[in-house]
Amino acid sequence: MHLITLKPWSETDILETVENSLKIKNHPEKYRHIVGGKSLCLLFQKTSTRTRCAGEIGITQLGGHAHYLDWRTTNFALADLSDEMRVLSAYVDIILARFLKHAELVEAAAAATVPVINGCCDRYHPTQALGDLMTIQEHLGRLEGVKLCFIGVHNNVCNSLIAAGMKVGVEVTVVAPEINPAAVDKELWEQASRKGLYKPIDTDTTSLESSLEKAIAESDIVYTDTWVDMEFFTDPAFDKERKRRLEKMMPYQLNAELLKGHECRVMHCLPAHHGYEISGELVNDARSIIFEQSENRLHSMKAIFLKLLAES
Ligand code: CP
Ligand code: NVA
Repeated sequence: MHLITLKPWSETDILETVENSLKIKNHPEKYRHIVGGKSLCLLFQKTSTRTRCAGEIGITQLGGHAHYLDWRTTNFALADLSDEMRVLSAYVDIILARFLKHAELVEAAAAATVPVINGCCDRYHPTQALGDLMTIQEHLGRLEGVKLCFIGVHNNVCNSLIAAGMKVGVEVTVVAPEINPAAVDKELWEQASRKGLYKPIDTDTTSLESSLEKAIAESDIVYTDTWVDMEFFTDPAFDKERKRRLEKMMPYQLNAELLKGHECRVMHCLPAHHGYEISGELVNDARSIIFEQSENRLHSMKAIFLKLLAES
């Protein structure tokens, strides 16, 4: 069993993982050394703080061993991808991979003979969404019926929130005047829409004030993420597009003024860009659960490892 996207994961798979994440957080001593001798390889094409640390530290705390591979220092780039994945599978028990392109990750997982976890590609970020469900469960005491509003650019994180939410009854409203081309997944959106759990707001036909005001007023959680994915931040070829987006997206910034009078919790997967998708003030606001959310990536990652190792 892999975790490339949450689409093939059942409601039970997701709920068990969330429940185990909370047990691991509350009783870490019971899980120390539980996977003695198992090895994790992290194979990363992109930068990372949370996912990398949650992976490396998580497996170590469970009694296993982590080996980090920066793609650029390996022979993956010059060899056949399937060959290299077969080799890696012979050395380790589980692989956490952060790839640029979803299609390449799918190809890699097909060749692997051990579980492969998507550590964030251009289309999905499933480990983020599982950690986020854990945080929501912890803060609100439930998942079913929770209303989450994602404001920003519809991206990998947004897709995984929809994919996870539609399995466990979290309703995701999306106010996104921009969609990352790689994140377009009509099949997912239609499935979630049919269940009434994905509600995209048409920002072309709804006024900015009313779409934001209504979505926020009806939500338990307001969530945002970067307007530009990490791989494009320093890419000169993306300069013009980055400027265009920043200008277009500024009215959608989450800040104290926008959330004035609202009791909602504020979430962000981090890294945050203060002054762009969210104000620094709001990151540190009493309604922000952003730092619990990032801590929970560690506990949740451990639960994901335990599930996939048990099923392999
Ligand atoms: N949220 C998240 O995945 O952070 P990193 O990119 O730092 O891993
Ligand atoms: N959408 C962001 C998520 C980072 C965790 C990105 O891909 O850069």
